[in-house]
Amino acid sequence: MHKTIALIKGDGIGPEIVDSAVEVLHVIEKKYGHSFDFVEVAAGGNAIDLTGEPLPKESMDACLNSDSVLLGAVGGPKWDTLPGHLRPERALLGIRKGMGLYANLRPVKLFPALKGASPLRADLIDKGFDILIVRELTGGIYFGERGRSQGPDGEEAFDTEKYSVKEIRRIGKIAFDTAMLRGKKVCSVDKANVLESSRLWREVMHELAKEYPDVEYKDVLVDNAAMQLISNPSQFDVIVTSNMFGDILSDEASQLTGSIGMLASASLGEGTRGMYEPIHGSAPDIAGTNAANPIATILSVAMMLRLSFGMEEEADCIEAAVSKVLEKGTRTRDIAKGSDSFVSCTEMTESIVAEM
Ligand code: IPM
Ligand code: MG
Repeated sequence: MHKTIALIKGDGIGPEIVDSAVEVLHVIEKKYGHSFDFVEVAAGGNAIDLTGEPLPKESMDACLNSDSVLLGAVGGPKWDTLPGHLRPERALLGIRKGMGLYANLRPVKLFPALKGASPLRADLIDKGFDILIVRELTGGIYFGERGRSQGPDGEEAFDTEKYSVKEIRRIGKIAFDTAMLRGKKVCSVDKANVLESSRLWREVMHELAKEYPDVEYKDVLVDNAAMQLISNPSQFDVIVTSNMFGDILSDEASQLTGSIGMLASASLGEGTRGMYEPIHGSAPDIAGTNAANPIATILSVAMMLRLSFGMEEEADCIEAAVSKVLEKGTRTRDIAKGSDSFVSCTEMTESIVAEM
């Protein structure tokens, strides 16, 4: 197969981890006879430095003309004081919206070899866990009306959480359809005891649940969900939630696996094209030091191969190599315990490539 992949290396550790993932893709090309065209796309802070805009039109077009996008990370302190519409994060939000990627899939899986890296007590993770967070990605408070004004007490600001039945239903369908292929459980997370948007969310989810009698469905309020992720992570299969709750809960859940450096993600819309990225950020504190954990990005590439290109065996090959490397005890700093030794980003990549 021939595929064109838009590469957004981005800022901070972005270039290091994307280079690692590309090395893995080169192995897939050789081993399975595919060819990938890599098109480098400027977006985020580096694009601001280059062009004054976080997402120049040519960059958006390159993403739309690709078979899928691989993104490292965008953002950093250098651009933190820019006005909202010029921040590097606008690039990410612009691509998600521009490509219609409304479904963000974030698998939270415990590699058995990393049990010791999880901050949870052994008895809490003994049963293991395999959670899929399905986060709505192009609606809600991230994209609702926002602004500032002068009120009686001085300056005010507001952001709006707004969801339509159509938006809720389509993300719900992804959650239920995916659950049917896994543990057949859906937990919908909302704040229906306070928010009207959550009450509509819940109504739509209940309607959908009737169409999936084989799926065990429950609603959990977001504060309770945050607690249960820690106290009993094994109970969850698919968690479906809004853009902002999904953002927060996925960072929390990532810690259960030992490090946010382990979590991959896929963002999908109606077609097969998607954007794949680690859920962590640009980690400016370690940028350029070859210390980043490339596993989240490498696992994101596995998701790309499986979900966008239908390359099941190829995806399995990458995931198995990651598992083996971890079983052999190879660790980057973020997943190393105490005084254990650890390897660099490039060494971790080489170990994974060797296992493939
Ligand atoms: C994520 C990130 C982004 C988000 C930021 C960088 C805009 O935290 O992908 O989880 O909030 O969606
Ligand atoms: Mg986030």
